[in-house]
Amino acid sequence: MGQKWHYDKSPGLNAVIRGVVRSAVGLHGWRVIGIEDGFEGLIGAPCWHELDLAAVRGILSRGGTIIGTSNRGNPFSYPVETHGKVELTDISDQVIENFHNLGADVLIAVGGDGTLRIAQGLFEKGLPVIGVPKTIDNDLQATDVTFGYRTAVAIVTEALDRLHSTAESHHRVMVVEVMGRDAGWIALESGIAGGADAILIPEIPFSVPDLCQAIRNRSERGSRFSIVVVAEGASAADGEKSLLKTAGENLGVERFGGIGQWVGDSLADCLDMESRVVRLGHLQRGGSPTPYDRILASRFGVKAVELIASECYGEMVALRGRNVESVTIASAVANINRVDPQGELVATAQHLGILVSRSTNL
Ligand code: F6P
Repeated sequence: MGQKWHYDKSPGLNAVIRGVVRSAVGLHGWRVIGIEDGFEGLIGAPCWHELDLAAVRGILSRGGTIIGTSNRGNPFSYPVETHGKVELTDISDQVIENFHNLGADVLIAVGGDGTLRIAQGLFEKGLPVIGVPKTIDNDLQATDVTFGYRTAVAIVTEALDRLHSTAESHHRVMVVEVMGRDAGWIALESGIAGGADAILIPEIPFSVPDLCQAIRNRSERGSRFSIVVVAEGASAADGEKSLLKTAGENLGVERFGGIGQWVGDSLADCLDMESRVVRLGHLQRGGSPTPYDRILASRFGVKAVELIASECYGEMVALRGRNVESVTIASAVANINRVDPQGELVATAQHLGILVSRSTNL
């Protein structure tokens, strides 16, 4: 398990924790403890605290998580210093031992593909595990949607609404960079909801000349401004994106950022219009979850407890249609949930006159 995985965070984490505790403690009379800072809390001296009904009072609407999180603690590839040299080491046996020493029976792992891959690895080593899908990028397979995603879309949509005023009154192109390293869901859905004129997503390489032409066409029709939404993982057809990733502190997992600025500069070079760039960054992951995410996260928490009651380990809770069901964690992490370039959502955007990466029908 030497790959580099990404670890996600999402509004709604506290709602999951509350759902688990209320149902496990209140309904079943079980004991729940919260492992602090993700898998980090099971490395070395375990860090945890009791999660009783009082501990989860008043947290439903709160962003973040009352037990902390971390994107550094992969027990299958953990930096261990020996004789002054740091080596990535498999310390999963220590994590499993620490877990059992706490007297715990089942681990609920709430996370995106990185966390859930680790959970699957621990499950394969015999640890009873239940998964809960969390990522604002909505890029996990086997669930219709992850919690946190709808909150991110709402935040970006509000930003686009606000940016329209400046774009329109100053006759500018506003480029808005949003999250989405592998999948363009946030860019696509918030772009549709926020009335964007162009949406650039990782799934379809974009072309600057097409984009410039589309903006010129709009100007000629009397709309002297444009809003361009670009996902951080989008790339120009000639592969410019690769310049914009940096190796992060997270065990070499790349940090994205900068494609928005690159697009803004490219547009300023080829258009007779001013451009401005806004990078929404971590604002998209912060603050209170929307009612949709509070409900989804609560349902996920309750379902996780149901799965424990029926001893369905190695399973992840998932929204399928209208129902919360369960799927294997293995199936959820097998592939990334990407936007289908030929799908109905992209077609809808195009029929609305939005340029989606390469299309030229604006
Ligand atoms: O996984 C969600 C995500 O929002 C990505 O789109 C983004 O690249 C990343 O998180 C940023 O993570 P960090 O908080 O480690 O900078």
